[in-house]
Amino acid sequence: MTDISKLEIEIMAEIANAADEAALEAVRIAALGKKGSVSAIMKSLGAMTPDERKEMGPKLNGLKTAITDAVGTRAAELREVALEARLVSEKIDVTLPVRPQQRGTIHPVSQVWDEVVQIFADLGFSVAEGPHIETDFYNFEALNIPPEHPARQEHDTFYFNPREDGERMVLRTHTSPVQIRTMEKTEPPIRIIAPGRTYRCDSDQTHTPMFHQVEGLVLDSDTHLGNLKWCLEEFCKAFFELDEVKMRFRASHFPFTEPSMEVDIGCSWEDGQVKIGVGDDWMEILGSGMVHPDVIRAGGLDPDKVQGFAFGMGIDRLAMLKYGIPDLRAFFEADLRWLRHYGFSALNVPELAGGLS
Ligand code: DAH
Repeated sequence: MTDISKLEIEIMAEIANAADEAALEAVRIAALGKKGSVSAIMKSLGAMTPDERKEMGPKLNGLKTAITDAVGTRAAELREVALEARLVSEKIDVTLPVRPQQRGTIHPVSQVWDEVVQIFADLGFSVAEGPHIETDFYNFEALNIPPEHPARQEHDTFYFNPREDGERMVLRTHTSPVQIRTMEKTEPPIRIIAPGRTYRCDSDQTHTPMFHQVEGLVLDSDTHLGNLKWCLEEFCKAFFELDEVKMRFRASHFPFTEPSMEVDIGCSWEDGQVKIGVGDDWMEILGSGMVHPDVIRAGGLDPDKVQGFAFGMGIDRLAMLKYGIPDLRAFFEADLRWLRHYGFSALNVPELAGGLS
């Protein structure tokens, strides 16, 4: 038997015995790789006589082809076996309940955020956004809060160090700047809400330095106070999931609205727990009013042609009221026990048709 036939028998046996694709590849490299046994004989062809070369050349090429074919066949077999093994080990019982060991929960702020977006989307609002780091213009000036205005003190603003041009950026103290940004780039009629993070240097049971608000803005040719009242009543009924809610619109003052109103919702207290919608007590839930002509002008629109209303409310506060959560600070402590207790199922997406919460 020639050396070549012996080598062929050996290699073919190794191929047949390769237990997986990695082992098979090792056999292939040991034969056909740069330093492989077949390659070594190939290299010796140059030193042979022409007659020897004439005989050995075709034999070696035949061997190479035979090995390559055998490797291909074995690889296909191994893949088939591996697939079979996976199909057996990965089979699932589709009759089992969905994700029984679901662990994570949706944070109450995210839940309420989604609920609010759902309700206003149903009323024809779209969602607008703005940056968290704002200029003085958008956060104050354009909202009719000039530098010496007392409202600036109430905002406990986080200021950045002055830029080279002297401008001091701020962490937005409310979502109202999105009103201006929206007016600048949207042709009326405008109907938006702007949920988002806001920042004030304040911390106690009902205040955290970062919190969430949702702004609303409606501008059209003849939008009036009646529209505002209806809209906010619809929102409150939908949000608190009640057929009727007692509401009170109380005259107030905001620089960016005229007239301005704070909205209270009827409630009662039992054992330190608040019940929304009924009772003789009142709970303030939001600020609102007809957009001030100066604000419309600052947004680049003509107050003689468009008018409308705006409102702003705290998302975290809404969550506390609806879900009876007593301390705002706990919202942002990332305590797993708290999250499991107050969190929501990720599979229950809030939507009006199926129930919000
Ligand atoms: N921006 C106000 C705040 O943070 C809330 C607010 C009140 C927004 C009245 C409004 C509004 O749009 O009309 O306290």
